[in-house]
Amino acid sequence: MTKIRKAVLPVAGLGTRVLPATKAIPKEMMPVVDRPALQYVVEEAREAGIEHFVFVTGRNKGAIEDYFDRAYELESTLRDKNKIEILEKLTAELPAAGSTSFVRQQSPLGLGHAIWCARDVIGREPFAILLPDVLVKAKKSCLAQMVDAYNEVGGNIIAVDEVPMERVSSYGVIAPKVAGATGDLVEMKGMVEKPPQSEAPSNLKITGRYILQPEIMDLLSDQAAGAGGEIQLTDAMARLMGEQSFHAFKYKGKDYDCGSKYGYFEAVVAYAMDHPEISGEARELIKKVSSDA
Ligand code: G1P
Repeated sequence: MTKIRKAVLPVAGLGTRVLPATKAIPKEMMPVVDRPALQYVVEEAREAGIEHFVFVTGRNKGAIEDYFDRAYELESTLRDKNKIEILEKLTAELPAAGSTSFVRQQSPLGLGHAIWCARDVIGREPFAILLPDVLVKAKKSCLAQMVDAYNEVGGNIIAVDEVPMERVSSYGVIAPKVAGATGDLVEMKGMVEKPPQSEAPSNLKITGRYILQPEIMDLLSDQAAGAGGEIQLTDAMARLMGEQSFHAFKYKGKDYDCGSKYGYFEAVVAYAMDHPEISGEARELIKKVSSDA
């Protein structure tokens, strides 16, 4: 099985659901406790063995590129002040030189188009996609679980999770080959982007983590616009399904949609409650706030 070495992280979105904060900072840089949401996603990918990160960016996203660079003034100030522990942590989290690429999407034509913009950097090898709006809190990283599944069955692996039927129209939804199939890894026969509830083939939403074969790029190159007038990754995957195997993977973990106000708040609370420095205080605070309310 070809190793999954590269991951695409589409970060060109405007973040309209969390305005006005995103007027000045990219939504991916909003802090969840003490680090940008995007850092958690990079760590998830790193735990899965990803060696190269391809960020698909847009205008006003310069902060992301700077974040993944050395900060010499800051580092030298920390060194002068003998704050060595903080300094070491800061540099350890940085991807190695040459292991990041930044490509511009140029026009907001949809997720499928964003992924296609990474085609030259990806080349002809299977790769991962992580949508950084979504944080998945898990013991073993969601993508690492998917890589294990990929090593078993190969092909294309899509992370899915159950949602209440009344929310399916906000997501890509998959159709299992065998209706009601159980188990973590389920063969698929179709998928549809943001279907009306009455047309949804299941209640399994696409979470925003994918392992895909490089042929998806060929299909994305001529993919017509779909739901919302955008070029949809889901539509290109549905076409590829005629030629390649697709499995839906039910990961162990909980996902948070940091692109929405409530999801972001939920993530901050959940990560604070488990943070090694403040978990005790955070848990006390939550108890206090709920008993005061
Ligand atoms: C995208 C995908 C969708 C998926 C969702 C997960 O939609 O197109 O299939 O279910 O992410 O968050 P978006 O949220 O960008 O509209």
